[in-house]
Amino acid sequence: MSFRLDAISVGYPNGQRALGQIALAARRGERIAVIGPSGAGKTSLLRLLATSLRPDDGRVEVLEQAPWALSAARLRHLRCRIGMVHQAPPMPPRQRVVTAILAGRLGAWPAWKSMLSLVYPADLAGAHEQLARLDLADRLFDRCDQLSGGQLQRVGVARVLYQRPELILADEPVSAMDPVLANLTLGELCKEATTRTATLVASLHAVDLALRWFPRIVGLKSGEIAFDLPAERVTNALLRELYASESESPPVQDGTQPLLVTTGADGGGSPRAACR
Ligand SMILES: Nc1ncnc2c1ncn2[C@@H]1O[C@H](COP(=O)(O)OP(=O)(O)OP(=O)(O)O)[C@@H](O)[C@H]1O
Ligand SMILES: [Mg+2]
Repeated sequence: MSFRLDAISVGYPNGQRALGQIALAARRGERIAVIGPSGAGKTSLLRLLATSLRPDDGRVEVLEQAPWALSAARLRHLRCRIGMVHQAPPMPPRQRVVTAILAGRLGAWPAWKSMLSLVYPADLAGAHEQLARLDLADRLFDRCDQLSGGQLQRVGVARVLYQRPELILADEPVSAMDPVLANLTLGELCKEATTRTATLVASLHAVDLALRWFPRIVGLKSGEIAFDLPAERVTNALLRELYASESESPPVQDGTQPLLVTTGADGGGSPRAACR
């Protein structure tokens, strides 16, 4: 198994409960999209899998290990096998794109190579290769704080591609991108996961992208799993219920292109992936 969560509860120090009684497991190589309204617990779930958030209750197993029972050294090693794309990547001021990408492997390199890489980038070709996949190769030496939101998100994705983790976690990785780049970026993440049999879990606000790129969809609402289904079994009725207190219709990435079929043989209609 890639991960297994049993009866997980997560709360924040201010008493806010983020996840309650979550049970979720994934086999190696699965691609899962987590969808749900704002505040549903998507980021908390990804941070839990990244072992950066410790549950109050329940059992967590990631890459066959119970992270919270490990020594500090073994937990560090486990974290090197997990890659996280943050929605707003934390970047030190004035950091160059190349340094940000190479940081993906800092934990896996010996200390001398990591230190040296901060002064002189150790693997320019490797960083360039990942950036080129995301149509950003010409920005290798730009400063991160001078990039647009969507460009910065692609640097975060390139960093994880460079890291080559066994478990890829992506928190709204394309939220600041136009539809063409969003598709390109999700395509590269999916290709990476498929070719290396890595597990990919991405939270997405755009339901159409989730259905297009991910075979398994987990709907989160108020910190609980509302459904966990193959993409082709996610109906419009389920989506309407998931986003019931939000807008009238589920969010899509490109509002001009309605991708959900509203009528169908089942009466409730089922969403059609535009391509898969
Ligand atoms: N650092 C924090 N301290 C206290 N409460 C928090 C913290 N982070 C999140 N929460 C709360 O936990 C719940 C789940 O938040 P989370 O960020 O996981 O939701 P989300 O589904 O990722 O939302 P969004 O779509 O807006 O990113 C929310 O009620 C939120 O207010
Ligand atoms: Mg979030």
